[in-house]
Amino acid sequence: MLSKADYSPVGETESVALGSKNSKKKVIFVFLLVIIFIFFYLSKIFTWMPTKERLPSPRKEMTVADILSSLREDIPEAPKFKSFMETSSGGRSVARLEDPGAVFCVGDTLNVLVEMKDFNGKPKTYGGDFILARIHSPELKASASGVVTDLRNGSYHVSFTLFWSGMVQVSVLLVHSAEAVQVLWRERNGRYFKIVFIGSFIKGNKTETSQCGPMLKTTRPLCEYVDEREGEYYACIKPPTLPCSSLNNIKSHNTKGPNLSKNEVRLLERKNIGLQIKNTFQAVQVLNCTGPQQYLATEKCMYGIKSPFPSGYFYENRWFSSICQLTPIFGEAAITKCLTGKRLYFWGDSTMRQWNTYLRGNIKGLRFVDPPGGWMPQRSFNDEKNITFQWKKHNPPWIGSGAVSTKEFVYISRDLDTIELGGGRQDAVVIGIGQHFRALPIEVFVHRILKIRHSILRLQARSPHTKVFIKLENTRELGKVVMTMTDWYGRIQNLAQRTVFGDLRLTILDAWDFTLAANTFNVHPNEIVVSNEVSLLLSLFCDH
Ligand SMILES: *[C@@H]1O[C@H](CO)[C@@H](O)[C@H](O)[C@H]1NC(C)=O
Ligand SMILES: *[C@@H]1O[C@H](CO)[C@@H](O)[C@H](O)[C@H]1NC(C)=O
Ligand SMILES: *[C@@H]1O[C@H](CO)[C@@H](O)[C@H](O)[C@H]1NC(C)=O
Ligand SMILES: *[C@@H]1O[C@H](CO)[C@@H](O)[C@H](O)[C@H]1NC(C)=O
Ligand SMILES: *[C@@H]1O[C@H](CO)[C@@H](O)[C@H](O)[C@H]1NC(C)=O
Repeated sequence: MLSKADYSPVGETESVALGSKNSKKKVIFVFLLVIIFIFFYLSKIFTWMPTKERLPSPRKEMTVADILSSLREDIPEAPKFKSFMETSSGGRSVARLEDPGAVFCVGDTLNVLVEMKDFNGKPKTYGGDFILARIHSPELKASASGVVTDLRNGSYHVSFTLFWSGMVQVSVLLVHSAEAVQVLWRERNGRYFKIVFIGSFIKGNKTETSQCGPMLKTTRPLCEYVDEREGEYYACIKPPTLPCSSLNNIKSHNTKGPNLSKNEVRLLERKNIGLQIKNTFQAVQVLNCTGPQQYLATEKCMYGIKSPFPSGYFYENRWFSSICQLTPIFGEAAITKCLTGKRLYFWGDSTMRQWNTYLRGNIKGLRFVDPPGGWMPQRSFNDEKNITFQWKKHNPPWIGSGAVSTKEFVYISRDLDTIELGGGRQDAVVIGIGQHFRALPIEVFVHRILKIRHSILRLQARSPHTKVFIKLENTRELGKVVMTMTDWYGRIQNLAQRTVFGDLRLTILDAWDFTLAANTFNVHPNEIVVSNEVSLLLSLFCDH
């Protein structure tokens, strides 16, 4: 940082060395420079202090545009395809071992090369295919995700860490061809027709309905619902007679979807989604060599650990971290002991509700406080052990045929500002959103998580020891409502979450990694997955 005091001696020294006429000019020049520097410095200070609210961090804050441009690097453009036969074919492509003669020990890396071919069997020359990979040993109930690197020339490098000894199978799925990805990305960010939201306005005995949404295409008068500070907006077409304030609930239904060409429709048929790529090799034998049967990190897992990929693996249906040693927390006694004297706040969709439901089923002596009829907020108390936990939905968009009462509408970022916190380590906040945003342009989701980022910074200024967890999206059904809900959207949203939350003091819980390893492809994963996810959360919450 330069100040006038630091700078002027240099000017004086210089002016001495120069002739008197020149030196006068030089002094003026230096003086001007100093003024410019001071001005520049002050202007920086002022941009650090926005007019209305003071941000807790002096960094330049990320914008939606920053995040979108960072995502674009992960979405390579594919050339236009002329015929369906020229698109990537899972059946024609092959996966081969990069080092077939090698002997593998626990902890080694297994490298696989995927050569993508089209339906004619011709090698592809560009990347962009959506591939998911895992290793597994069914008899050991062991599995882990692989890391796929797009070489952008039709080949993909897939690497696996061999976490356990035994016969290990490699499974590589072509979820969507590069060409299908292009269609999905175009339609995601195009028009708003995948979902129609219907609002019900109720007053006395009268009910009127109209279309709602974050961006309606209509010239008719609107009821607009704005949260200015959060920059959030949705609207409904004004009902015939009832006032805007009588909006009572919103539900939604899927539309027929966009008009696609015949080839595009074919790309997205169920039979062309999630195809297993043929391996040129059998199961790989992994030896325990000098160590134990499975890979175990030595350091104890603590809150704040970074979440690499893969972040862990299943062994005998238990989740082990890839970087630290987890203290498993299963069963009523361990869960109750961990949560005694603690408060846990869940926000998010029904995948987050699953964690809440799991805890409700695994702690005795709970008192449930749920609003009648509605399903949010769900609060649970154990007065003897002083345990409190709750689950709340996120604000619209909320997709489903069940009506969501407007009484439940509150932005997570606003709630985070007002929840009761003890200031110590007794409180944890867990946020898990994304699935309901997949149907809307990516900007809507990025905007929402940026607002949550700001509110996490405010929360941490207010209560520095509160533990904050971000649960990423898990995978879901491969073939259902693909255009609206594909995991490819989830993958991009998870990348956005890592960018937005990655530098904060919090822990990312990679639910995607769990469900990919476990091969569930179920929006609501089974109890093996959920119990291990919650065990990871509790292990980090109760790490002291
Ligand atoms: C694709 O790129 C990788 C890495 O640059 C290279 O090793 C490989 O030979 C390329 N494959 C083809 C078919 O060009
Ligand atoms: C609502 O309907 C009920 C029964 O149909 C009727 O008795 C009542 O008067 C109505 N109330 C209003 C405010 O119209
Ligand atoms: C699809 O095409 C048909 C016939 O061209 C047209 O009537 C319809 O409005 C189009 N739908 C959409 C969503 O563009
Ligand atoms: C390594 O594997 C062999 C054969 O499965 C087993 O007998 C041995 O106990 C293992 N060693 C360790 C340290 O686990
Ligand atoms: C219960 O726990 C909360 C924090 O979760 C704490 O503030 C409060 O003092 C505790 N109450 C009792 C009676 O221990």
